[in-house]
Amino acid sequence: MPFTRIAAKSDLPEPGEAREFTVGEKVVCVANVNGTISAMDNVCLHRGGPLGQGVIMDDKVVCPWHGWEWDPQTGQAGHNAAFRVAVYPIKVEGEDVLIEM
Ligand code: FES
Repeated sequence: MPFTRIAAKSDLPEPGEAREFTVGEKVVCVANVNGTISAMDNVCLHRGGPLGQGVIMDDKVVCPWHGWEWDPQTGQAGHNAAFRVAVYPIKVEGEDVLIEM
């Protein structure tokens, strides 16, 4: 799959924040952990909470609904490695943010 532009570089979340971006029919959660940008599926596997609306604590995205924690680089849940959301390659090229779905 080719990379698709999802945003301008200036739209990226600040360090320590996450944000939702729409890619076609999907929404992804883009997180910035100490300057490292990563992208994972936006839908929490617990009850479908929007991960991109969560905060980052201890390098994990915390689901805003009931607090499950997700590693934005591996997609793994902090409390149980059997739970994993999809992660997507993401990169910045010039002023563009590109993702491979
Ligand atoms: S929906 Fe994410 S923790 Fe419940």
